[in-house]
Amino acid sequence: MRSRVLFLDHVGVIGGAELAILDVARAYRDTSTVVLFADGPFRGRLTSEGIRVQIVEGSRDLQAVRRETRLPSIGAVRGLASLVRRLVPIARQYDCLHANTQKAFVTACIAGVIARRPIIWELHDLLTPDHFSRAMIRLDVTLANACASRVIANSRASAAAFVEQGGRPDLLRVVHNGISAAPFDAVTDDEVTTARRDLGLGDAPLVGIFSRLGKWKGQDVALDALESVPDAHLLLVGDALFGEEAYVASLHAQAARLGLTDRVHFLGFRSDIPRLMRMVDVVAHTSSAPEPFGRVVVEGMLARRPVIATAAGGVPEIVRDGTGVLVPPGDARALASAMTRLLSDPAFADDIARQGRLHATTFFTVEAMVDRKTSHIEAAIRRQAA
Ligand code: UDP
Ligand code: GLC
Repeated sequence: MRSRVLFLDHVGVIGGAELAILDVARAYRDTSTVVLFADGPFRGRLTSEGIRVQIVEGSRDLQAVRRETRLPSIGAVRGLASLVRRLVPIARQYDCLHANTQKAFVTACIAGVIARRPIIWELHDLLTPDHFSRAMIRLDVTLANACASRVIANSRASAAAFVEQGGRPDLLRVVHNGISAAPFDAVTDDEVTTARRDLGLGDAPLVGIFSRLGKWKGQDVALDALESVPDAHLLLVGDALFGEEAYVASLHAQAARLGLTDRVHFLGFRSDIPRLMRMVDVVAHTSSAPEPFGRVVVEGMLARRPVIATAAGGVPEIVRDGTGVLVPPGDARALASAMTRLLSDPAFADDIARQGRLHATTFFTVEAMVDRKTSHIEAAIRRQAA
């Protein structure tokens, strides 16, 4: 029988961190619960897999605290206190608290100390000034050093940033994301043909980006690149998840300014990523700031597509020689030439896709990820009990 874990996540939308914890929560579904601080589509995704979910709503002021916030408002502090008050009695019914996001971690630290339960922080982020305010980083690291039993980082890069900011190395364990190949293998050729036809794409060369729309995900760089890849079309799959609607509007304006509206297809947030990935000729990851891990890179490989990815953060831990094409972040020219090469040299593209697929199914399996994470969680609980 597995231990009782209270998983905490502050959002209700579905991002990479949420998809990553889904597989672990599934392994614990007989004993455990996921608490979300906001309602949203993630709840339905969890319950459809038989995972118990409880919504413990965070106040609006608390939700308004962003990664770049330097000083939280009085309302946010009150909201935090109220959330903690509601979480403590719940926490006492579990063996440990598992925080899947930075805000959930801050809340879990206080609730866990009061309820005397071990706290595990799943670190999906790079604690660097590219992504967080210095005040936020200091708060996270101080709390982790004082209260966390384990910090499970999604890449060596995320782990290194934690240590660089003063985090205790002895707390860290690195576990890369693992992703199931099954949904990619289940897509039929007919589905791919239909999906292409529905978009009216015919045989046009097609590059796809499968990331939420947000400044550091670099879709603007891809639009600049597309200008010098004539005839190619670009699928932008994903939407603004964290209040970046202005960036979405700027992408539409940029596409219009560059005369690319006929060749750029905004598909919004989709739940059929495997089918869409199988439909494109090239999967591109274009983050212009270092990516903590980058599930989409592994997914592109599983879809048997050649992947272009930006060489920063955790991505070089995924893409090795010949398994994908790395380009410098923010470099539209390098991105354009990688697209052109892959679209015009099928033998090269097939070779990259083949090696990528083998690499992903060898080193990024969901089974290995779940085994490693559950063993770290159980070890933290045993240690606290001893
Ligand atoms: N994704 C999705 N629908 C979309 C766009 C993206 O389900 O419309 C998924 C994508 O397949 C990937 C995840 O969202 O599994 C994004 O994870 P990643 O680690 O690449 O980046 P994050 O957004 O977590 O920083
Ligand atoms: C975060 C990161 C992303 C990572 C995901 C899963 O959302 O931004 O790079 O792949 O978590 O660990």
